[in-house]
Amino acid sequence: MVNTTLLELLPAPETPPTHLHQAMHYAVMGPGKRLRPLLTLLAANVATDSPVLPGSHTLRMACVSELVHTASLILDDLPCMDDATIRRDRPCTHIRFSESTAILASTNLLNLAYGVIANCPNVDASTKVAVSAHLSHVIGSMGLVGGQVADLQNQPMGARSEIEQLYHQKTGCLFEFSVVTGARLMGQGAEVIEALTRFARAFGLVFQLYDDMLDHSIFALETGKDVQQDAGKTTLLSLYTPEELRGAFSDAQALAREQLRRAGHAESLLAALVEQQFATFNGAAQRLGS
Ligand code: IPE
Ligand code: IPE
Ligand code: MG
Ligand code: MG
Ligand code: MG
Repeated sequence: MVNTTLLELLPAPETPPTHLHQAMHYAVMGPGKRLRPLLTLLAANVATDSPVLPGSHTLRMACVSELVHTASLILDDLPCMDDATIRRDRPCTHIRFSESTAILASTNLLNLAYGVIANCPNVDASTKVAVSAHLSHVIGSMGLVGGQVADLQNQPMGARSEIEQLYHQKTGCLFEFSVVTGARLMGQGAEVIEALTRFARAFGLVFQLYDDMLDHSIFALETGKDVQQDAGKTTLLSLYTPEELRGAFSDAQALAREQLRRAGHAESLLAALVEQQFATFNGAAQRLGS
């Protein structure tokens, strides 16, 4: 249903300028995990016994983070950033199309994301303003863009807390937006939003540590993207001993669980999705250590 909704939201590829719209389709419709939309849907307590219909406002809002995420991946892969060649099992957008088309496709995906919020039916204006303001914050220089700047500068970082902050900005912030948006759609109050914000920070840290692990060549056939991109970079992975890594992993997972419980998600589908992710992350950590 997420994929169907994304297709509905994107301009048709045959609509001019066709190469731009084709590039947007290509980048978004590649086989991504759709983790961020799922987080929104499940934070909105969307369970199998209350099916969401394609085109519903919850699904549309859930797709906003995927549009932003894909936009960030297009830029991240450019020669002036990570200079990647493969993304989502296929040549990167700038390789399949051109660098200028990739940059414009990314810009237009970001633009589309705000339009999806503004035009979303059945959501009151004050919620739309709160969601837009939150998105502007998490993408901006205190969030994703700022994290990407720090990542590219690759300054030697003394404290782990500095790298953790970078991970929060480049990865955790968009998870925060995803879960908090789901809670906002349900009219949840400040306490739940605060707990979900803390959850996302812990989840983002574990997720980015896992992503760093996937950069190792033993995962080359599984990731659908380039490996060894972080060679020479200061990552938490490069700073931790295997034992410290296991400790950081289980501490952050415990914190994430605790905050989920505080947000009322002790046994929800959201909690189940998070446990499933943690099992995958822990499996990778074990393979890396063996
Ligand atoms: C990759 O995110 C980029 C990071 C923030 C580490 P995902 O691993 O969620 O990528 P897709 O969406 O499945 O392609
Ligand atoms: C990307 O981090 C995070 C973004 C905000 C795009 P990475 O550079 O580690 O992501 P991958 O490994 O290329 O997916
Ligand atoms: Mg990068
Ligand atoms: Mg990258
Ligand atoms: Mg990576």
